[in-house]
Amino acid sequence: MHEEAAHLSQDVLTRSPDVVAGATDAAQADAAGKTLFIQTYGCQMNVYDSERMADVLRPLGYRQVDRPDTANLVVLNTCHIREKATEKVYSEIGRLKAHKDVMAQKGDHMTIAIAGCVAQAEGEEIMRRAPAVDLVVGPQAYHKLPELIARAARASGERLETSFEAVEKFDALPTARAPEGPSAFLSVQEGCDKFCTFCVVPYTRGAEYSRNVDSIIAEARGLARQGVREITLLGQNVNAYHGQGPQLEGSNTWSLAQLVRHLAKIGGIERIRYTTSHPCDMGDDLIAAHGEVPELMPYLHLPVQSGSNKILKAMNRKHSVESYLETLAKVRQARPDIALASDFIVGFPGETEQDFEDTMELVRAVGYAGAFSFKYSRRPGTPAAEMYGQVDPEVADDRLQRLQALILDQQRAFNTSKVGQTFDVLFTGKGRNEGQILGRSPWLQSVHVQGPEALIGQLHRVRIIATASNSLTGELVISS
Ligand code: SAH
Ligand code: SF4
Ligand code: F3S
Repeated sequence: MHEEAAHLSQDVLTRSPDVVAGATDAAQADAAGKTLFIQTYGCQMNVYDSERMADVLRPLGYRQVDRPDTANLVVLNTCHIREKATEKVYSEIGRLKAHKDVMAQKGDHMTIAIAGCVAQAEGEEIMRRAPAVDLVVGPQAYHKLPELIARAARASGERLETSFEAVEKFDALPTARAPEGPSAFLSVQEGCDKFCTFCVVPYTRGAEYSRNVDSIIAEARGLARQGVREITLLGQNVNAYHGQGPQLEGSNTWSLAQLVRHLAKIGGIERIRYTTSHPCDMGDDLIAAHGEVPELMPYLHLPVQSGSNKILKAMNRKHSVESYLETLAKVRQARPDIALASDFIVGFPGETEQDFEDTMELVRAVGYAGAFSFKYSRRPGTPAAEMYGQVDPEVADDRLQRLQALILDQQRAFNTSKVGQTFDVLFTGKGRNEGQILGRSPWLQSVHVQGPEALIGQLHRVRIIATASNSLTGELVISS
C-alpha cells in the first residue's frame, strides 16, 4: 500500500495543469451552494490548517456552517497525540454516519473527509474500518482537497493522500485568507526532527520545514490589511525556524528572531506571539528580541516535560533541568515581566516518586503563569511505548492531580499579581454578559470589561480590578 501511495503522489505531481484545473472545475460545479462543517481537534496548527482548508474550499462554493447534521462536506481535522484524542475520531465517524444515512434517505449526500494527524498515521486503517469515510487527507496535502473531493464524487481514483510535500503545500495554498477577528495564527514552520521518545509528531507531520520569508510576510501583510492586530506564529518547533529570505546580516537564512523583528514593522501588526518552542532552540537573538521588540508579547511557552534529568534523558529531550533553568533566567533578565508556560508529562516509563517530586520542585522554582500537564499515553510505534517500567495508571492519575493543583495555584497567583495594574488589552469579541466585551492581556489572560462593542478589534487601556479563576476583570481607562 505504501508503494501505491508513493505512486499516487507521483501521479498527482505529473498531471498536466489543465487536468488538475478540470478536476477543480468539476468540484466547483458540484459544490455550488453547498455547506461545509469542519471539526478541529488538537493543537493550534490544526486550528490554522482548518482555516486554510476553508480558504481552499470557499472559492469552490462551500459555505461554512456550525453543525454537521446536514452538511454536504464534513471535515474532521484530527489529532493523534494521545490515545484518547485518536479514539474520539472513530466515535465521531459513527455519529456522522447516522447523519449521512438520514441525508441519503432524503436524496442528499454528505462527503466525510478525515484530515490531520490521525489521517496521516492511520489513513489506510480508517479507509478499511470506516466505509462511511469518503476521503483521507494528511496535513501536507490540503491543497489537493478539491481534487480528492472530485474523485470521491466520481467514486473513482485513489481517495487517500498522505504524501509529504510541505513545500508544495505552502506554495499551493491561496494567499487570500478570511481571518475571524483581530487575532490570527500564521504557520511558519512545520514538522519536527527532535524525536522525543513519547511523541508521534515527527511521524505525523514529517521532517522540520521552514516556510520562506517572503510568503510569510505576504500573508502577514494580508492579515494586517484585513484588520488583524495580533499574529501568533506557529510551528511544532517554531523557534527552530530557519527560512530562506532576502540577504540579511550576510545570510539568506533567517532566524525566528529576525522574522519577528521584520514582522513587527508591518503597519497594523501590534502584537506578535509564537508557539511552541523547544528549550534547545531558544537562541540568544530570540531572547534579546524579547527585551527589544515591544510588539513581541511577554509570554513564552517553553515545554520542559519533566523535572528529572533521568526522565529527560529517557525522553530524548536533549536538555537538562539546569540548562532549561539557565535559559529561563536569561529570558527573565531580558524581559522581567515575562509569563512562562510549559507542558508536562507525568507517568513516563520509569518515573519514580522521586522523579515526580523533582518535577514538582522545578515547578515551584520557576513559578509558571500556567501550564498543560498530561498523563503519559503509550503511542504505538514510538520508542517509549516499548520501554521498561510503564507506570500504573492510578499512580499517574494521582501525580497528575498533584501537579495540576500546584500549577493552578501558580496560575491564580499570577493572575492576582495583575490586580491594580493598567495595560493594553486587545478586544476580540463580546463577553458572556450584557454590555461586556472580552479581550486579551499581553500575558495571554482573558480580560472582561463593560464597554462598547465598537472597541472589538482594537487595543485599549484597561485597569484590572479583580480576578476570576481563569480570567481578569477590568475597567476601561478613559484618557483625558
Ligand atoms: N512541539 C511541541 C509540543 C507537541 S505536543 C513541543 O515539543 O513542545 C504537545 C504536548 O503534548 C507535548 O509538549 C507533550 O507534553 C504532550 N505529549 C506529547 N506526546 C504525548 C504522549 N505520548 N503522552 C502524553 N502527552 C504527550
Ligand atoms: Fe514531539 Fe518532542 Fe518534537 Fe515536541 S519536540 S513535537 S514533543 S518530538
Ligand atoms: Fe495533535 Fe498533530 Fe497537533 S498529533 S497536537 S494535531 S501536530
